[in-house]
Amino acid sequence: MTDPSEAAPRTAAVAAVDQGRRTWIAITCGAGAVGGVATAVPFVSTFAPSERARAAGAPVQVDIGGIPPGGKLTVEWRGKPVWIVRRTKEQIEALKKTDAEVADPNSDRKAYPIPSYAKNEWRSIKPEYLVVVGICSHLGCSPSDKFTPGAQPSLPADWQGGFLCPCHGSTFDLAGRVFKNKPAPDNLEVPPHMYVSDTTLLIGEDKKA
Ligand code: FES
Repeated sequence: MTDPSEAAPRTAAVAAVDQGRRTWIAITCGAGAVGGVATAVPFVSTFAPSERARAAGAPVQVDIGGIPPGGKLTVEWRGKPVWIVRRTKEQIEALKKTDAEVADPNSDRKAYPIPSYAKNEWRSIKPEYLVVVGICSHLGCSPSDKFTPGAQPSLPADWQGGFLCPCHGSTFDLAGRVFKNKPAPDNLEVPPHMYVSDTTLLIGEDKKA
């Protein structure tokens, strides 16, 4: 009998919205591996894909309608956390200020080739929504949300909001671009994705797929 979860994208109903709170723990500091993946969020129960579908990397359909401005939703795709951040106007504007401070402002590096539809100043299809894999390009830790601008521990006085990797201090702006002179060599990966409707995203598949 065919498992329906293998034939159609998995659907995450309004899943956990985590504002400034890390809900995905995938840290093995120093060991260089993503290990001990633990989740503490309700979305796990809404996914329930079969193991075979998970291994095959089935696309994940996500309802993003419940994410408030400035909020973030974490979903799982191919065993990895994918973050969907609904950026505010102020956060979108702030990306201009970090242009000169990030290592690869135009996403030209090839380690994680960015889909053509996200190769722009926001690194996204729609400026409002950032969609990235939440795994540091250094040794695979999961960075923490640091959305509040301004000086704070481990961050500069002109911090505009973004992510801080707790393992070795790499920082990323709210487009997932890594700052200069940090251990992480690349920006956060943008997975293939597309909008099925204004409030529904499909992660793991795009029009070209
Ligand atoms: S894993 Fe080393 S800085 Fe992120």
